Amino acid sequence: MNKARESVHGMWSSRWVFIIAAIGSAVGLGNIWKFPYITGEYGGGAFVLVYLLCIAMVGIPIMMAEILVGRRGRASPINAMRYVAKEEGASRAWCLVGFSGVLAGFLILSYYSVIAGWALAYVFQAIGGGLNDVSPERAGELFDDLVGSPGQLLFWHTVFMIMTIAVVARGVRDGLERAVTILMPALFVMLFVMVGYAYLEGDFARGVHFMFDVDFSKLFQVCSGPADAQDCRVSSEPLLVAMGHAFFTLSLGMGAIMAYGAYVPDRASITGATIAIAGADTLVALLAGLAIFPIVFASGLEPSSGPGLLFQSLPIAFGSMPGGYWFGTLFFVLLVFAAWSSSISLIEPAIAWLVESRGWRRATVATLAGVCAWLLGIASALSFNLWSGEEYQILGKTLFELKDFLTSNIMLPLGGLLIALFIAHGAGRHMALNELSISRQRLFNAWWFLIRYVSPIAIALVFLQVTGLLEALGVA
Ligand code: TRP
Repeated sequence: MNKARESVHGMWSSRWVFIIAAIGSAVGLGNIWKFPYITGEYGGGAFVLVYLLCIAMVGIPIMMAEILVGRRGRASPINAMRYVAKEEGASRAWCLVGFSGVLAGFLILSYYSVIAGWALAYVFQAIGGGLNDVSPERAGELFDDLVGSPGQLLFWHTVFMIMTIAVVARGVRDGLERAVTILMPALFVMLFVMVGYAYLEGDFARGVHFMFDVDFSKLFQVCSGPADAQDCRVSSEPLLVAMGHAFFTLSLGMGAIMAYGAYVPDRASITGATIAIAGADTLVALLAGLAIFPIVFASGLEPSSGPGLLFQSLPIAFGSMPGGYWFGTLFFVLLVFAAWSSSISLIEPAIAWLVESRGWRRATVATLAGVCAWLLGIASALSFNLWSGEEYQILGKTLFELKDFLTSNIMLPLGGLLIALFIAHGAGRHMALNELSISRQRLFNAWWFLIRYVSPIAIALVFLQVTGLLEALGVA
């Protein structure tokens, strides 16, 4: 093992700090904004079950693989893959996985920042009293006004991108450690409060049934339209989206966790850290669902109303609960922080690579990369207003939808598949055994079986639902 190698970007001060930073990366808009609305769109229970299975059978093993390669390579994903491949006698072409990850990171950040901008806008709505006593109709109008305004979306997108770059420019560790240790626990508490409110005032039973009653036929159909007059067609899109989301929510498949893994101390347990990260992430998503769906049903909203679901439902709760002014403000502040600690990990692999290979200053590189992501993001912001029309759509999707679909459902699972193949068939068992240093042989064997067979086959199977894939793309 090459113990002499050190990351030029510094190290986490302890294993605990790594876990917190990785939770910061994993827990974000994916859990609180995206999980509830896609669960609503794809019909609830069966979707949630597949998502949970993908976390356990695909996400967790691949997360361990990413951390392992990162720590072994002690460099940005592109270089880490390159070094490890070289040492283990595998092809240098594996580093291409790193490049595709950098691209995916840019594409995701370019819409992530727009949605995080919505959350920022809601912080100021809440502070200004705009959420006091909102009715369901008013909540809908507020949201439509915001996304209908290119100026506002671009403004908040810009603010959020500057926030992201400011942290990345200083180095992930300095910027992040303290904020995340306080704010993540606060977010947990806040979500519990909201679930409590949903339990008392919302249609809790219906929310729980929606999220956990499994109806497998829903996995192979996509429906649109209002609940009483739905138009459904056969498609395996829900399966693809559930798996894609498992990658998205755990920040896997593009090197974010690998980049963070490069700064992990040598002897830290990778298995324990992974379980903690995936557990916290899943818990937050389920809590968000339990907070949102009871309110959705109690106020007569459609669970399938799309990306606005969170922003149209929770304000109704803040509008009527005691202390709603403060809870509302605090909730959106915490949501912005959760998004912030995620967005920096989307761009860290690119920054780390540029610093390593060009020797430029971090701040310079971060600014350059930020400007690129910001420019790309303009298209996402306009997707909700000026460019929402069909003439601006590609394959029936707005640019925002297209970027989300391509990255979450194709690029991330593909990246994950290649990372699994790299570990299991490129680098090989010896290096994994050495690096993981799991003392219990059985545990290692279980992981090895998952990463060698189960995860790649599961991903391949979902991809092979080609009909669904082509259909989803609007080709067939
Ligand atoms: N996981 C984050 C969320 O749930 C988003 C995110 C951060 C991400 N880094 C990533 C997604 C890397 C995919 C890949 O909000």
